[in-house]
Amino acid sequence: MIDLHSHILYGVDDGAATRSISLAMLDAAKNCGLRMICATPHYRGHWKDRDAARAAFADLAPEAKKRGLRLSLGAELYTASFDRDRLQWYLSELCYTGTNCILFELKTSSKETDEEEKIFLLQRAGMDVLIAHPERCTEIQQNRKAVERYAQIGCKFVLSADSLLMPPWESRRRSAEWLLKNKYCAAIASDAHEAQGYTDFAKLLTKRPELRAYAKGVSFE
Ligand SMILES: [Fe+2]
Repeated sequence: MIDLHSHILYGVDDGAATRSISLAMLDAAKNCGLRMICATPHYRGHWKDRDAARAAFADLAPEAKKRGLRLSLGAELYTASFDRDRLQWYLSELCYTGTNCILFELKTSSKETDEEEKIFLLQRAGMDVLIAHPERCTEIQQNRKAVERYAQIGCKFVLSADSLLMPPWESRRRSAEWLLKNKYCAAIASDAHEAQGYTDFAKLLTKRPELRAYAKGVSFE
């Protein structure tokens, strides 16, 4: 199984605060049955964050290997940080290593029309767009047609495991279940910020083993 969304790199965002937390996350991910973790630190427009991400990645990749895990590097590009002058840099630096896929985070209060142009520019520069936790986005929660529109322009949706562990009446949970039921879910990822994120991911996959099929990579046709 592959985790497409993880804040396992220490000291770069609101994920692992220390190296020991990153190591505990690796152990928990291993217990979860994963074979690969894609580190996707938030990218919010600061070049220096990327240097810190690369340094933490270089330190942790051998630790992952010792545990029989593969660590790969990507990013979570936040829509408000989008800069059309950096498209080529996004392609070479922020996509999952060895791919042209980028994880893109919408504002929770996004309107689809605000995002479409950015997605189009990413695609025109050669990137395939994965939308991170669409179930958190108010527009998607309230307007199922927005989902259709994003899907029609070629986006894929990566749900977060924690949304599926929320009480059934929560809007994030309801939206995530709707996306699953209507076959809009391309993958489920941990979006882990600490070891508990992997414990929860394991809990979800034990409780609902049919969801294991979504803990994988994503292919674009
Ligand atoms: Fe995230």
